[in-house]
Amino acid sequence: MNNDIERVLFSQEDIQEACRRLGAQISRDYEGKKPVVVGVLKGAILFMVDLIKEMDIMTEVDFLDVSSYHGGVASTGSITLNREIETDISGRHVIIVEDIIDTGLTLQYMLNYLNAHHVASAKVCTLLDKPEGRKVTAKADYVGFNVPNEFVVGYGLDYQEFYRNLPYVGVLKPDVYSE
Ligand code: PRP
Ligand code: MN
Ligand code: MG
Repeated sequence: MNNDIERVLFSQEDIQEACRRLGAQISRDYEGKKPVVVGVLKGAILFMVDLIKEMDIMTEVDFLDVSSYHGGVASTGSITLNREIETDISGRHVIIVEDIIDTGLTLQYMLNYLNAHHVASAKVCTLLDKPEGRKVTAKADYVGFNVPNEFVVGYGLDYQEFYRNLPYVGVLKPDVYSE
């Protein structure tokens, strides 16, 4: 285990199981709808890869890059759009894939973006949901796990751009970010 991790919240096996459950559920709900699955860079990279492999339907894949934490432990509150979706999503069913929903600001921004592009429907699938962190009303449609109000890293989630490559989700030792 990485030395900076205090404890593991969700192991590789836990995550794999969640991907199977969510992939099966989405496949049932979107059968025949040919959705566009949109991964949110960079945090959602690992979850996106594992989730789409568990989806047994015709689907397109694209990415959107938005950020607001800029490496830190708290949202700056201002969202930067670094890359738009390339697919013509007008009239399409879109599924946003996120690693975590915390304040809800990023999700709120993306739902406005999708509405402005006249999608047929928009839903979000997140690996982690931190309901206690909300600053705006934002609801995830598909959730892997709820997490407590602690800063978590791994499996795509970063602190100062590091730890994204850990195959599990864990809590950072406090001295790592108080240094
Ligand atoms: C993180 C995370 C989500 C968002 C959730 O992204 O990956 O996209 O913040 O937080 P919120 O609900 O408080 O808005 P971040 O801005 O760190 O960019 P990154 O994915 O490139 O790390
Ligand atoms: Mn992100
Ligand atoms: Mg980040």
